[in-house]
Amino acid sequence: MGSTPFPKRFLWGASMSAHQVEGGNHNQWSVWELENARSLATQAEYQYGDLDNWKDIEKDAKNPENYVSGKTADHYKRYKEDIAIAKKLNMNALRFSVEWSRIEPREGAWDVEAIAHYKNYVQELTKQDIEPVLTLFHFTLPIWFAERGGFEKRSNVRYFLRFAEKILAELGGDITYVITINEPEVYAAESYLEGRWPPMIQNKLKFLTVLSNLAHAHNRTARMIHQSSRRYKVSIAKNSNYIYSGDTARLSVVSAHVMQYFQDDYFLRKVRRYCDFLGVNYYFSQRVYGYRIHNPEQRVSDLGWDMSPADLEHTLERLTEKYKLPIIVTENGVADASDEKRQWWMTHTVAALGRALTAGVDVRGYLHWSLLDNFEWDKGKWPRFGLVEVNYDTMERIIRPSGRRYGAMIKKVRN
Ligand code: BGC
Repeated sequence: MGSTPFPKRFLWGASMSAHQVEGGNHNQWSVWELENARSLATQAEYQYGDLDNWKDIEKDAKNPENYVSGKTADHYKRYKEDIAIAKKLNMNALRFSVEWSRIEPREGAWDVEAIAHYKNYVQELTKQDIEPVLTLFHFTLPIWFAERGGFEKRSNVRYFLRFAEKILAELGGDITYVITINEPEVYAAESYLEGRWPPMIQNKLKFLTVLSNLAHAHNRTARMIHQSSRRYKVSIAKNSNYIYSGDTARLSVVSAHVMQYFQDDYFLRKVRRYCDFLGVNYYFSQRVYGYRIHNPEQRVSDLGWDMSPADLEHTLERLTEKYKLPIIVTENGVADASDEKRQWWMTHTVAALGRALTAGVDVRGYLHWSLLDNFEWDKGKWPRFGLVEVNYDTMERIIRPSGRRYGAMIKKVRN
C-alpha cells in the first residue's frame, strides 16, 4: 500500500452482539419475538413490498420463523470456530456483547457457567491476539429487569451498575475497551417513541426519560470502571448518520443542523465527560430538503438504506471537531445478501477512514458490522450483514468474497 495513513496499532476487525448471533437466549426480546412473529410476517409485504429485492426476500419475510431468533448463528457454541475465522481474516479486534440475561437470569443470582463461558470467550480472543471490545448493553435485558420497568426508572440503574461491576471483576483482566451502551437513541426511540420494539410504547416523555437514564447509567458505570483502574477505555457506541442539506435554502440548512444536533449532540453532551474515546456506528447519510429527508437512493442496500460510505469521513470530522476524542468505528456495514455491494462499500469506507486520518481525525479502529450473518431485530434473519454467510439450516460458515477481500486488505495495511 506504500505509505498508509493507518497507524501500526490500528484495530481492524468486526462487530457482533450477543442476542443477534448466540442463539438460545431467553430475555425480553426472545419473549417479544414469540408473541409478535406472526404479525410481523403478516405486515412484511406492507413494510418491505416496495423494495427492489422484494421477490428475493418475500419467502423469508412472510415466514413467521424469520422473526424468531432461536438458534440464530449458534455462536454461543461455535465461538471458537468464528474467532478462528476472524483470525484467518487477519483481524486484530472483535467487538462482542455479554448477555445480561444469561449472567443474571434471576435478580441477584449469578450464573457461574455463563460467566465461565464469557471468560473462555475472552481468553480465546486474547490467545489469538485479537483485542476484545466488550459491550455491556446491546438492546437486550433480563426479563426480571424489564418487568421492573427497565431503564424507564432511574432507580433501576443500580442493577445495571451491579452487573457491570460483576463483569469487570470477572473479565476485566483481559479487557481494555468497554462500550457501556449500544446506540442509546436507537434503543430508546424504537422501544419508547416509535413503539416498534419491546415494550412497544409510544410516549415522548418516556423516550426522554429512558435517554436520560441511559446517560446516567453510562456516566455512573464509567466512573465505577475508572475508579477500579484508569487502564480501561470507556465509551458508548453512538449511532451517527451524516445529515446534510440537499440545497442552499435556509430551511434545509437549518433543518439539517437541528436534526444533526438532536441525533448526535443531545446525548453526547450528557456523556462526553465520561468517554475516553467515541465509539461511532455509521450506516447511512440523510439528505434534507426543507424539513424532510429525501435521499438520492441511487444506491441502496437490501434494506433500502441509502449507501454513502464516503460520508463516514464527514461524520468523523464533525465529531472530532465537536468532541476532540479519539474515535473507534464500532459498527459500519451493509445488508447485502448477494455480496455485490459490500466490496464497493469497503473500498470507499477505508478510503474515507484514510482521508479522515490525514485530515487529523484520531481514528483508532474500524469494526465492520458484522462478522457473521445475524438476527436483525424486528426484521429477523433475512437481512444479511455478514462478511461470513451463515446457513441457518446447517450452521455452515462460508466466507464471502468481501470477507476475503477485507482480510487481504487488512494484511496489506498491517504489513
Ligand atoms: C445495531 C445493530 C444492528 C445494525 C444494523 C445497529 O443499529 O447496533 O444491532 O444489527 O445497526 O441494523
